[in-house]
Amino acid sequence: MTSSLVLGIESSCDETAAAVVRDGCEVMSSIVATQHDLHQRYAGVVPEIASRAHLERILPVIKEALREAKVELHQLSAIGIGHEPGLIGSLLVGLGAAKALSFATDTPLVGVNHVQAHLWSPCLDSEPIQYPALGVVASGGHTTISLVNGPTDISVIGQTIDDAIGEAFDKAAAILEAGYPGGPAIEQLAEEGDDQALKLPVARLGETLDFSYSGLKTALLYAVRGQPQGRGKSVSYPRSASDLDVQSRRDAAASFQRAAIRALVNNIEQALKQHEVTCLLAGGGVTANTLLRNELIRVCNEHETPLRLAQRKYCVDNAAMIAGLAHAQWTRGVSHGLDLAAAARVAG
Ligand code: KG4
Ligand code: ZN
Repeated sequence: MTSSLVLGIESSCDETAAAVVRDGCEVMSSIVATQHDLHQRYAGVVPEIASRAHLERILPVIKEALREAKVELHQLSAIGIGHEPGLIGSLLVGLGAAKALSFATDTPLVGVNHVQAHLWSPCLDSEPIQYPALGVVASGGHTTISLVNGPTDISVIGQTIDDAIGEAFDKAAAILEAGYPGGPAIEQLAEEGDDQALKLPVARLGETLDFSYSGLKTALLYAVRGQPQGRGKSVSYPRSASDLDVQSRRDAAASFQRAAIRALVNNIEQALKQHEVTCLLAGGGVTANTLLRNELIRVCNEHETPLRLAQRKYCVDNAAMIAGLAHAQWTRGVSHGLDLAAAARVAG
């Protein structure tokens, strides 16, 4: 079988990314231009700023991905584009570029679901997956446990009912004035903290595999800033994170990190007990977290289930996972026309 080269393009949030992947798994290049510096002062992604930054970066990033892979446009078998879900203005920038390249070079266009692509990321620089698997996506926008019967045959069996786990890390970092992006900032602050210092709630939603992170966020807020006075817009707090000493902030970060990860891992353990699977797949920005990675290793050892954990560089948003999943779809006969639409949300 001749090998195939797929260009992936990703612009769903605040990373502008392009990658070339051979046969779905072998990453030839993976270029990611982050916009953290642009969004830092707002402690979150500003959609309008993100779209404009994607526009400036998309072509240089694609060119760099092709150059680094030493691949010419005419050698591509397909162009994969993350077209859902995400920020609509951001998605449209990548989608426009992908369509233009597809049209100009007469190369098939393959629309890829960003969340499904996170579940492909364990294959990158590694082996294809044996199905059925249990899949975990822990990112800034999604917290899901799924039954994965194929690259895009995915049924969600547990999901967050409010904040995503990465969003909770980002909000915790804002409460603790720890920096941006929140996940790595909390992880760093937690390093020398006592994770038992604060008794923060680990949510359990009855017998379901669903998650809730808003209670944990509020508990951290009150622990750090004290009980609120007043209501609505006139609410005020007796203190802020900067009134705490460094060790108290470290302890709060460690206690938060422990509770947030405990809630995720409890449900994964539950799901592993309920379902016979060949392996556990894990991807998404939060799976870059060392405590979570160690906990996944522990749980999979205990359940004698092979763990397929994305390499750290492929946990956060990247285009290699888009190219890889596009390859899987393309080899199964899936491609899309130039009328492919971007979608901020995906039903179901
Ligand atoms: O997958 P991703 O890059 O984007 C989405 O699809 O949402 O995930 C970004 C999220 C952010 O919330 C970020 O704070 C979190 O992943 N994150 C982490 C770590 N690195 C990134 N959370 C905890 N620990 C980390 N080391
Ligand atoms: Zn993502």
